[in-house]
Amino acid sequence: MKAVVFDRFGPPEEVLHVRDVPEPSPARGEVKVRMLASPINPSDLLYIAGQYGLKPPAFPATPGFEGVGVVVENGGGIIGWLRKGQRVAVLNSRVGNWGEFTVASSKQVIPILAAIPDDQAASFFVNPATVIALTEGVLNVTDGAWLLQSAAGSSLGKMVISFAKHRGFRTINVVRRPEQIVVLKKLGADEVILEKDGIAEQVKRITGGAGVKFALDPVGGATGTQVVQSLGHGGTCVVYGLLSGEPVSVDPRWLITGSKTVRGFWLADWMKSLGLVGKLRLIRQIRGLMTSGILRTETGTAYPMERVHDAVREAAATGKAGKVLLRIAP
Ligand SMILES: NC(=O)c1ccc[n+]([C@@H]2O[C@H](COP(=O)([O-])OP(=O)(O)OC[C@H]3O[C@@H](n4cnc5c(N)ncnc54)[C@H](OP(=O)(O)O)[C@@H]3O)[C@@H](O)[C@H]2O)c1
Repeated sequence: MKAVVFDRFGPPEEVLHVRDVPEPSPARGEVKVRMLASPINPSDLLYIAGQYGLKPPAFPATPGFEGVGVVVENGGGIIGWLRKGQRVAVLNSRVGNWGEFTVASSKQVIPILAAIPDDQAASFFVNPATVIALTEGVLNVTDGAWLLQSAAGSSLGKMVISFAKHRGFRTINVVRRPEQIVVLKKLGADEVILEKDGIAEQVKRITGGAGVKFALDPVGGATGTQVVQSLGHGGTCVVYGLLSGEPVSVDPRWLITGSKTVRGFWLADWMKSLGLVGKLRLIRQIRGLMTSGILRTETGTAYPMERVHDAVREAAATGKAGKVLLRIAP
């Protein structure tokens, strides 16, 4: 079969190749999936560069943490038997989804309703689950409160805005390009501010000097530092990405005065903290919110696997139209 592989860590455009590799076979408790499409997420790019919290078990390795496909073989077990022939979202941290076939634990494939198209199903889990985890599970944002977020024009940031409308909290959204202001306002953003105009001052003005109790930062560097500076009394900033690649600097005085918190978040760890019932409830919640269009992924260009270099280049570029997809099967 054809798959995207890399033999060493490095810049995705340099180290990725499309090659013929043996088809994987499912062990007991696993299923084999014929892949249809897979998104290119920032975590995939970090993984290929060797900068992610997970490393491939061996080289050559195939990237792709999520995607959509059809279960074609059961390696053994009741769940796999039930899934055979179903279209599923595939969560894969071991074998990788950027190939014609993959294998995954039968517990890591989620049946997808017919009403959810492939481009949405491909991004069924990572961003939607993170939005729910960050705003409900970690911050527990209260009704009417302000939530400040940077990189608000990202796929995940846009979901936070529509989820906030649905849940009844308000958002202050930081972007780096003025074109994003209109786009985010249309989605229901309460306030959209430009990074370059000074985040902390603008947050002060919007909140009448109080600052925010809830903040999210996936950027780091000067942006993340200013997001932390925008916290009000008892405020918490959750750091969940490293888009700038730069560290956040925190003056201890900012945290001490007003007893503020800065904490990290990784979906993989948060999922471990949920029991089976919690996981099933989360999947049901995502299904409902996706079907009703609240947690929707804005999709950008879909590339065939052979054009993986164009795909990763666009995924890392400034100002892309939406989530870049690898279209693995027609
Ligand atoms: N911790 C976790 O478990 C977890 C889970 C899911 C996602 N994430 C993180 O969530 C973030 C968003 O993911 P996504 O899938 O929504 O990404 P995405 O759709 O690829 O969007 C990336 C966005 O980041 C912006 N951006 C990139 N570099 C930036 C910089 N240096 N300064 C300011 N903005 C910058 C881009 O702005 P432009 O539009 O201006 O180009 C773009 O809007 C990523 O950091 C990802 O790793 C973390």
